[in-house]
Amino acid sequence: MMILVGGEKGGSGKSCIAQNLAVYFARDKKSIVLMVDCDPQRTTSDWIQTRNTDPHLSSINCIQLYGKIRNDLLSLNQHYDYVIVDCGGQDNLALRAAMSVADHVVIPLRPKRRDLKTVPHMEDMLSTCKMVNPKMLASFIITQCPSLPSQAKRILEAKEVCSSFGINVLQAVTYNRNVYDDSEERGSSVLEIDPEGKAAAEMIAIAEELMLMKADNSHEFN
Ligand SMILES: Nc1ncnc2c1ncn2[C@@H]1O[C@H](COP(=O)(O)OP(=O)(O)OP(=O)(O)O)[C@@H](O)[C@H]1O
Ligand SMILES: [Mg+2]
Repeated sequence: MMILVGGEKGGSGKSCIAQNLAVYFARDKKSIVLMVDCDPQRTTSDWIQTRNTDPHLSSINCIQLYGKIRNDLLSLNQHYDYVIVDCGGQDNLALRAAMSVADHVVIPLRPKRRDLKTVPHMEDMLSTCKMVNPKMLASFIITQCPSLPSQAKRILEAKEVCSSFGINVLQAVTYNRNVYDDSEERGSSVLEIDPEGKAAAEMIAIAEELMLMKADNSHEFN
């Protein structure tokens, strides 16, 4: 199964979600996972490098691919349980190529005007790619949410903006928590640093919600 964590907004949490999902499937689901880093900044490759030098952390495979990566992704997908692609807006070609083959496209957005402004363009890109990849399941996910109860309205409003474009928004969100940043710096994940913590629960909720979407869909075709 291929999961693309993508989008054109910088800093929305693409790499963070891709990395934590990779650990979830590799560690919690005992699956064989490959990460594909399409970002010339190499955020995920650097994270993997740090991770693979720590003997306490299970190693995860990662490769870098840029540009026209459709065929590479298709063949890699046959050899792994999960291929998780981290793709930013810098490599637009890779983002479109990955959208044309992924089973799930997950687009993180912060509940901020600048991030939400990218929704119409993402919807446009998704609907084009869906023509060649009709099985694709696309979802927005609201990230780095403010935890103050007085700000809860912002999260709801952000979800409404996404839904108004007819694209699924995950119920699960991530809140702004330092543990995301701290775990990334150590090549680790929130699931490993604090398995019983709130951030770990957020990541598990995201992964489970995505997998349920798949289950519903396959049920439809059976
Ligand atoms: N829920 C969160 N709470 C707090 N910090 C977060 C959260 N999610 C991500 N971060 C932090 O925000 C920063 C940006 O996240 P990340 O690198 O995942 O974004 P990105 O979308 O991949 O960015 P880029 O467009 O540069 O690739 C990182 O330092 C990351 O650790
Ligand atoms: Mg990134």
